[in-house]
Amino acid sequence: MNPFAPKKEELNDSAYWVMVEKIRDLVPGAAGRTAEFESLGIPTNVLCDGPAGLRINPMRKGDSNTYFCTAFPIATLLASSWDTALVRSVGEAMGNEVLEYGADVILGPGMNLQRNPLCGRNFEYYSEDPLITGKMAAAMVRGIQSQGVGTSIKHFAVNNQETNRNTVNTIVSERALRELYLEGFRIAVQEGQPWTVMSSYNKINGAYTSESHDLLTKILRNDWGFKGYVMTDWGGGKDPVAQMKAGNDLLMPGSGKQISEIIQAVKEGKLEEKVLDKNVENILNIVLKSPKFRGYANSNKPDLKAHAEVTRKAAAEGMVLLKNGNNALPFSNIKKVAIFGVGSFNLISGGTGSGDVNEAYTVSLVQGLENAGLSIEEKSMKEQLDHIQKAKAKQPKQLFFFMPPAVIPEFSVKPALASAAAQNADAALITISRISGEGADRKAEKGDFYLSDEEVNLIKIVSSAFHAAGKKVVVVLNIGGVIETASWRDIPDAVLLAWQPGQEAGNSIADVLLGKVNPSGKLACTFPMKYDDVPSAKNFPGIELPDTSTRKPGSPLEEAFLRAKPAEVVYEEDIFVGYRYFTTFNVPVAYEFGYGLSYTTFDVSNLVASSGQFAGKYEFSVDVKNTGNTPGREVVQVYLSAPAGKLVKPAEKLVAFAKTSLLQPGETQTLHFVLTPRDLASFDEATSTWIAEKGNYEVRAGVSSLDIRQKATFELAKNLTVEKNTKALVPEREIKVLRP
Ligand code: BGC
Repeated sequence: MNPFAPKKEELNDSAYWVMVEKIRDLVPGAAGRTAEFESLGIPTNVLCDGPAGLRINPMRKGDSNTYFCTAFPIATLLASSWDTALVRSVGEAMGNEVLEYGADVILGPGMNLQRNPLCGRNFEYYSEDPLITGKMAAAMVRGIQSQGVGTSIKHFAVNNQETNRNTVNTIVSERALRELYLEGFRIAVQEGQPWTVMSSYNKINGAYTSESHDLLTKILRNDWGFKGYVMTDWGGGKDPVAQMKAGNDLLMPGSGKQISEIIQAVKEGKLEEKVLDKNVENILNIVLKSPKFRGYANSNKPDLKAHAEVTRKAAAEGMVLLKNGNNALPFSNIKKVAIFGVGSFNLISGGTGSGDVNEAYTVSLVQGLENAGLSIEEKSMKEQLDHIQKAKAKQPKQLFFFMPPAVIPEFSVKPALASAAAQNADAALITISRISGEGADRKAEKGDFYLSDEEVNLIKIVSSAFHAAGKKVVVVLNIGGVIETASWRDIPDAVLLAWQPGQEAGNSIADVLLGKVNPSGKLACTFPMKYDDVPSAKNFPGIELPDTSTRKPGSPLEEAFLRAKPAEVVYEEDIFVGYRYFTTFNVPVAYEFGYGLSYTTFDVSNLVASSGQFAGKYEFSVDVKNTGNTPGREVVQVYLSAPAGKLVKPAEKLVAFAKTSLLQPGETQTLHFVLTPRDLASFDEATSTWIAEKGNYEVRAGVSSLDIRQKATFELAKNLTVEKNTKALVPEREIKVLRP
């Protein structure tokens, strides 16, 4: 069970415990289930976490079988592939495990925007950009649901931090909501048709999302046409009657107290039964499609071997080569490597919390390299393993299984050991790892967003020893979210951003290091020079407000980890999130949005457009040629720069992207793009409409947000009203929004 769900003593609630008992019989480790009405032939639906794979208990009492699930790469890695077909294939494999293990709905994908690099759950989310987020989530939803099971896109909406997530009131403009925080969800709803949506814990402009009729009915159903049901996050919101009225159909995990309050409200005439009829209808329409209703006989035996291949491939496709000095990669003529860094001996496949998966194994870096035919320098390995063993023995016990494990201090390598290793090995690998997860945000401190002094020393000492021996050093970043790289990246020869790559970690990394896979990942988030450059830095995670409740302080653990104090955060950066900010305000970054190297080179040329006028749409194509010596794939990213008019515009925004197939040296592929009125439009708060303002638009086709290779201009002769939306989610007070 999710530890964030209400506690037994808090609830003293029989309905809740009936549910818990039933889950134990059905799919142990599931997060929850819907009510069943046997006499009416209505079965229960089992809901299990996601989103990096199905989360259930791998062992069952009195049962010698195992129920391991595949840990797929984290969402941030998948987004870096810029490959929706690949993400769909991951979804198919994941959905098959949902089906075969007897669940009906997986609680994912997660798709909040990565507003700030410190959000502890960013690994569960795709990108700082809503188009990438929406396209990736839609592909994932389609893949999972192709197996006849459901998804729950979450956390709707604006759950961009973990600090005080249950109470925080987010004050944000209608425009930033529509263009950024809601836009990915809109795309996923309209292009993916998820069976369910999970509302978030936080408030938006004064109302809990699960109690917001504006969000769940006006926007989700009326503006976007959502047809499924909405469930709360576990224990989310306060007022079940308001939740029913808002269109939050299912309360999870559900309690008898909530049921009594709803019945009471009906009796007192405060809640019309027809509201409940609609809520029930929404849920039942989905139950009718579920494996349980269809009577599907699940095997409990998904093809885990085949899925391991899917995750191995996906992980390699989403890794981003940040630096490759002197063509350090791919390894050639390298037989033996020295590996350094605690992370090298403890690769992290994914984050913690409900987004963690109970996988059977994680392939270590040693195993991955050995599987690829390399050997490992033994002395340096042995000393580090001894260090890790001793450090583990001294580690404090994990307070709470949902928390990230305590960090093992980095090994302090002696120059003599590094020099000896440099004599024995052909190259060095240093892994830097980070882990975070549900319930806590990361910190802009050494050892987290910044490297620790020990990590920097390790990179320095190993690099100087190997460089003195004429050998190369590669840093592998095994992280779930953005870290600082600018201050140390000049020291090693190459930097590979491997993210948290799922259970085949070591194999996937080796595939890229050895060139079995040519890296084609591109950042879907910006790596800033320093934390303070991030536009939301001064408003993250907001401020705590005086606590007027009579709430007794909880245990030290609750206060430290699960605390929920009244709080608010104001999104003053407004629409200038991620590259929209850095490009508009000309702030230098370490690695820009869209950036990523390859083992080959590409030319993007020959932009051919249908016309210089926008006539309902704008069509164009570009040619991509592999000009190097290695087969590879390139991503063309189309940014649009809109004319200044009534509304302020970011310097550019991503409006389309496409990835080539594997191009052989010398091979060319033509990529086609169509821009629609919606791509030109901005949200006008005064009229609640999407408007495209007349003037000249610049189309920029590039291989990153800063590396633009082809440009064209078209004219929009007249202002266009593209879409009218409902007035909704108006901020309670004026926001001092950032403007150029
Ligand atoms: C998390 C959700 C999760 C749910 C059920 C909550 O604490 O925020 O993402 O799906 O628990 O486990």
